[in-house]
Formats: sequence, C-alpha cells, structure tokens
Amino acid sequence: MPQAYAYTAFGGPEVETFLDLPKPSPGPGQVLIKVRAAGVNPVDWKKRTGYRPQGAPAPALPAVFGGEAAGVVELIGPGVTGIAVGDEVFGQTVAGAWAEWALLPAELTARRPPSVSFEDAATLPIAAATAHDALVQLALPAGATLLIIGVGGGVGVAAAQIARIQGLTVIGTASAGKKDFVESLDVVPVEYGEGVADRVRAAAPQGVDGILDLVGGHALEEEVAGLLSDRTKLVSAADRETVARLGGAPVARLRTRAVLDQVAAWVADGLLNPRVVEVFPLPEAAQALHRVEGGHARGKVVLTNPA
Ligand SMILES: NC(=O)c1ccc[n+]([C@@H]2O[C@H](COP(=O)([O-])OP(=O)(O)OC[C@H]3O[C@@H](n4cnc5c(N)ncnc54)[C@H](OP(=O)(O)O)[C@@H]3O)[C@@H](O)[C@H]2O)c1
Repeated sequence: MPQAYAYTAFGGPEVETFLDLPKPSPGPGQVLIKVRAAGVNPVDWKKRTGYRPQGAPAPALPAVFGGEAAGVVELIGPGVTGIAVGDEVFGQTVAGAWAEWALLPAELTARRPPSVSFEDAATLPIAAATAHDALVQLALPAGATLLIIGVGGGVGVAAAQIARIQGLTVIGTASAGKKDFVESLDVVPVEYGEGVADRVRAAAPQGVDGILDLVGGHALEEEVAGLLSDRTKLVSAADRETVARLGGAPVARLRTRAVLDQVAAWVADGLLNPRVVEVFPLPEAAQALHRVEGGHARGKVVLTNPA
C-alpha cells in the first residue's frame, strides 16, 4: 500500500511518484493526523512545476503533495492546547497531505462538526477559506452584484454560495456545459469567450459592483474591461500581476482557525456545499491531479484513505 504521493523534482507529471516515507512526528505547535481525506487544488500541480506562492520558500525535495486534509488526531506536539488525541479535525498542512499521515499547524486546525463529512471538511482550508477571504476583502453590501470569473471550480462554487449568504446577486462566467451546474448555485451563468463583457452587461443591467477573478490572464482583462469603475472592488486569487496592473489586488489570505470554523459552520448549517464531485482513493492520486490540472474541474476533487 503506497504511503505518500510526492514529486521528486520540479517538472511535469513524470516527476510524480509514490514514496514509502517514515511516519512524521509533530514538532512544537503541530498535530499529527491520520488522513481520512485530502483536497486536490491547482496549487498542487503548480508547486510541482516550481511555482512558489508569494514569499514561500522552495520546498525540500521530495515534496509530498497536498495543502489541506481532514482526519483524526494521533499525536500532538509540544505546546499544543485545545486539541486532543482522537479529535476529528481539518486544516491546512505543514508539508503534504496526500499520505496516510499529515502534520498540521495547530493554529490552522479546526474541529470537524459531526455533520460535515471528512471529504467536505478537507476542501475547506483552501477553496472555501479563499472564497471567504475574498468576500471579506471586497466588503460588498447586501444587494450588490458580484461577478465571479471562473465560478464553476472549487473556489468559485464556494464564493458563489458565501456571496448568496451575504445577500449578493451573483453572476458567474463558466463554459456552456456548466450552465445547469452554475444555475444550481443560484448564480446567473454567463458563457465565457468572445463577447463575454457584453453578455455580462446584458445579465446585469444594474451594473457590477465587484469582481472576483479565479482565472486570470486574458479572461480577467477581457471581462473586467469597462465593467467596474471602482477597481478597489476587483480581486484575483489567480493572477497577481494582471490584477495589480488593472488597479485591483490579489486576494489577501487571512489563514486563521476562526475562518475555518466559520466556513465549517456554514457547511453544517446547510448554507455552503463545497460540491465534492469526484472522490479518488489515494492510490489514484495521479488521476485526481490530472483532473484538476486540466483546468476544467467542476466543484472539488478529493482523495480519500480508508478509516
Ligand atoms: N491565492 C490563494 O490562496 C488561492 C487559493 C485557492 C485557489 N487559488 C487559485 O485560484 C484559481 C482557481 O482555483 P480553483 O480551485 O477554483 O480552480 P479549479 O477548481 O481548477 O477551477 C478552475 C475553473 O476555471 C474555469 N475556467 C477556465 N478557463 C476559464 C475562462 N476563460 N473563463 C471562466 N472560467 C474559466 C473552469 O471552468 P470551465 O470548465 O467552465 O472552463 C474551472 O471550473 C487557481 O488559479 C488557483 O491556483 C489561489
């Protein structure tokens, strides 16, 4: 049975492999969990190619994939309070989640509400928390209209639902094949591609008060042009350079346990569904990553381990 899915160098899928690594032991402020589920995100394949999120040091190689996990606490490191062995938790990982065990910083570890599945909980630290943080940053009043560029993926699905909780009207760009999926989120779908800005104008004759971009590049430039005069209401999780050039800002991540508790509470209350649409057992990690690397995932992709 493979233990951990890792990349041994920076490059394409050819540098991915399963490794038999020793069980990690928690350092100060860390907890060790037996992983039940782990999220799959674009940042996983981006890091494999050598991309480093702002300010992040280069990972030591081989590096285990995965930045978020849910599972059961097996050991706690020195100085950890408020979390006990046996607790069912989820959080951001220290270095890798696609494995039997993962280390989590205690301050970014939250308790899993009993009604929230391990699969759903595992998706919250990256996609849902980013969506939460973006909406905090935009600070739009109830009744305002938000455009989400790339609403059909992991962050977009969460952002759309959180925006609806806040009383916003949501318009989202997606491919034609996701129309029904987008409508099921209570979002007005707009097909992306040539002429998209005109289609957004037609869908939102009242105008757009904020934009959350989850695609970047051409999609961001085309869709933002002429739609938003107040560029302080433009944020992107996908493209720091383009959004800054357009007068907006990258999404500022809060990364707190309070945010994890909040998004989990929304899931428990039935207000937020991360839409886990594809679940792969850990031995199929390559297929799961390939699915996300294709750039057209629908909702969330998750890896699981047996209990
Ligand atoms: N800064 C952070 O902390 C942070 C955190 C999370 C994510 N991110 C970044 O945010 C981005 C989105 O992440 P994600 O997890 O939502 O990705 P994802 O689940 O892979 O979804 C990407 C979505 O983009 C859509 N898309 C592709 N081309 C498009 C276009 N031209 N116009 C509109 N939609 C388009 C795809 O839908 P179709 O099938 O409809 O094409 C797909 O649903 C990624 O770049 C990721 O790295 C950043």
